[in-house]
Amino acid sequence: MGELFSVDRARCVKCGACVKDCAFRALSAGDDGFPAMASPSRCMRCQHCLATCPSGAVALDGRGAGGCVSAQGARLPSADEVANWIVLRRSTRKFRRESVDRAVLDRVLSLLGNSPTGCNARSLVFTCFPDREAMDAMRGKFLDIAASPWGKMLPRWFAVPAIRMRKGAEDMFFRGASGLLIVSSDTSNPEVKTPDEDVTIACSNFELLANANGIATCWLGFLGMIERELPGFVERLAGVKTGRPFQAMLFGLSALKYPRGVERSGYAKIEYRG
Ligand SMILES: Cc1cc2nc3c(=O)[nH]c(=O)nc-3n(C[C@H](O)[C@H](O)[C@H](O)COP(=O)(O)O)c2cc1C
Repeated sequence: MGELFSVDRARCVKCGACVKDCAFRALSAGDDGFPAMASPSRCMRCQHCLATCPSGAVALDGRGAGGCVSAQGARLPSADEVANWIVLRRSTRKFRRESVDRAVLDRVLSLLGNSPTGCNARSLVFTCFPDREAMDAMRGKFLDIAASPWGKMLPRWFAVPAIRMRKGAEDMFFRGASGLLIVSSDTSNPEVKTPDEDVTIACSNFELLANANGIATCWLGFLGMIERELPGFVERLAGVKTGRPFQAMLFGLSALKYPRGVERSGYAKIEYRG
């Protein structure tokens, strides 16, 4: 990390845009008209000062305009394309044996740091079982934990499919996926105020990005249900510290193709007040 806030005086046009867009008034214009970090403790490092600067003069934490994606001429999907994306998104529960390409996965995971977090706390941890080998090892561990005296404290809705899975029947938990992502929030950071929301948003972004890169996904709420029944399960299974809010998502290459979306018009209850 570099200096918290710096301005290239040769480029700054003293327009005040960065000061105006500073949500917590950490910045102010000095007597010479150049912006300055007046209250560092108020800065939540959102980088809006960097994003809004018309001349690219601002740097925050040593990050300057040169390293940012330019909004000028950047192609964004059209409204219809985004609508199709939402309507055609499907939970995939049949996966091919092959693992996903690691370079593609790396790119998707590295983009997740862009997900918004409350108060810009950015305390997310992405625990990833990236390929078939890692998943098979994790599945074995899952079944071992389930069969242990401790795991036997789990209710029947969990135990019965686990026993069937051990016998080689359908994998109702992990759906034969070649990958698993667990997004958790490190709540030991006192700046974290909205951990449940943060992990869900990041998982949703993962689904969107993964699908856009040809990777199929399925939410794994099951893991959260098990953790609520038996706190500590996910730490034993995946090393995600007990008590950390998390969301999990299965992923892999889809073994099927849906020729159409589903029809959900009217399912969302919309209540305008005015
Ligand atoms: C928070 C959440 C948790 C879910 N957990 C599971 C799960 O554990 N296993 C599963 O097969 N599907 C799970 N699903 C997928 C839903 O069952 C699925 O979204 C629903 O059946 C509708 O299908 P669609 O996603 O293809 O529209 C979950 C979905 C959400 C949003």
